[in-house]
Amino acid sequence: MRIVSGIQPTGNLHLGNYLGAIRNWVKMQDDATATGGECLYFLADLHAISMPHVPAELASNTREMVAALVACGVDPDRSILFNQAQVPQHTELQWLLNGTARMGWLNRMTQWKDKAGKNREGASVALFTYPVLQAADVLLYQATHVPVGEDQKQHLELARDIAQKFNNDFAPKDGNGEEAPVFTLPDPIIPPEAARIMSLRDGTAKMSKSDPSDMARINLTDDADTIMKKIKKAKTDPEPLPSDKAGLAGRPEAANLVGIYAVMTGGTVESVLAEFGEEGFGKFKPALGELLVSKLAPINDRFVELRRDRATLDAFLRQGAEKARALAVPTLNAAYDALGLVRG
Ligand code: TYM
Repeated sequence: MRIVSGIQPTGNLHLGNYLGAIRNWVKMQDDATATGGECLYFLADLHAISMPHVPAELASNTREMVAALVACGVDPDRSILFNQAQVPQHTELQWLLNGTARMGWLNRMTQWKDKAGKNREGASVALFTYPVLQAADVLLYQATHVPVGEDQKQHLELARDIAQKFNNDFAPKDGNGEEAPVFTLPDPIIPPEAARIMSLRDGTAKMSKSDPSDMARINLTDDADTIMKKIKKAKTDPEPLPSDKAGLAGRPEAANLVGIYAVMTGGTVESVLAEFGEEGFGKFKPALGELLVSKLAPINDRFVELRRDRATLDAFLRQGAEKARALAVPTLNAAYDALGLVRG
């Protein structure tokens, strides 16, 4: 079992990242430690330059994100924790895969359409080829499982398509004429609950780092007062909570808050409604706020302590990158060979 996943260091880690992905990273790390599997978790800093960015902020966000991930439970001694920029094999493999990926495939990516918007001519080439780098990120390590939130599913399907076409077109045959695939087809691991945490200001938009309103998300670094304020001001409708799940239909904001409560307590939507059904938000919101404060406080404390220690954070990344490079080289060499590229 080889688990690989990444996150862009473009700002704070928020509740959507945590519940949709990072919690699973930690769980899978613990399982992998028990079964001899391996986890690679990285900061997708090369993906972050596909949108306009401020270099000094990218550098500090990268270190802050390492601190946040470690505070959430990613253990740099048990998992390989690194940033893409220190493992040049990612971009090398991306170029090789650019020969296999099709323009039409990339044109269909919803993230490309959303982020480029109407201004496609002005979008960066990196934004368009972004999913090919993402495919390289996982194929480079022969990933078997990729824990992500729902919004990354399409990119993972593309990675599988690229791997399959590359294997079909270029995989060498062994002595018996059997194809020896260059790449493993990775399976996305998407949590059944919390795969899509929505904005606190609009229950139909995902909670996102790029939302201009900080009130739309809970950052894992928010203090208790901020969390209580954001939940209190979260958009809702005037009705009390329903007593069963069917009553949440057509009420995206209410459904989102109930869903967050359910995953944070390890319960279900039904169990939350059994407790709060027929109650107004005046009772439910403070309970949700207090729950979030109590669950996030230990992460916040550890984050505040870690973020001060830049030398340690850089050492984590250096140590992770060294291990990642060693794992990446054999697959990269196999890809060069399969394509007939002569390298001495
Ligand atoms: P990013 O940085 O946007 O998000 C990191 C992880 O958090 C999940 N996520 C969410 N889950 C539930 N609800 C939400 N509102 C929410 N917002 C974010 C994402 O699904 C993701 O799992 N392209 C990726 C980074 C990446 C990557 C990879 C991931 C680069 N290479 C290779 C996996 C494998 C991204 O921008 O995620």
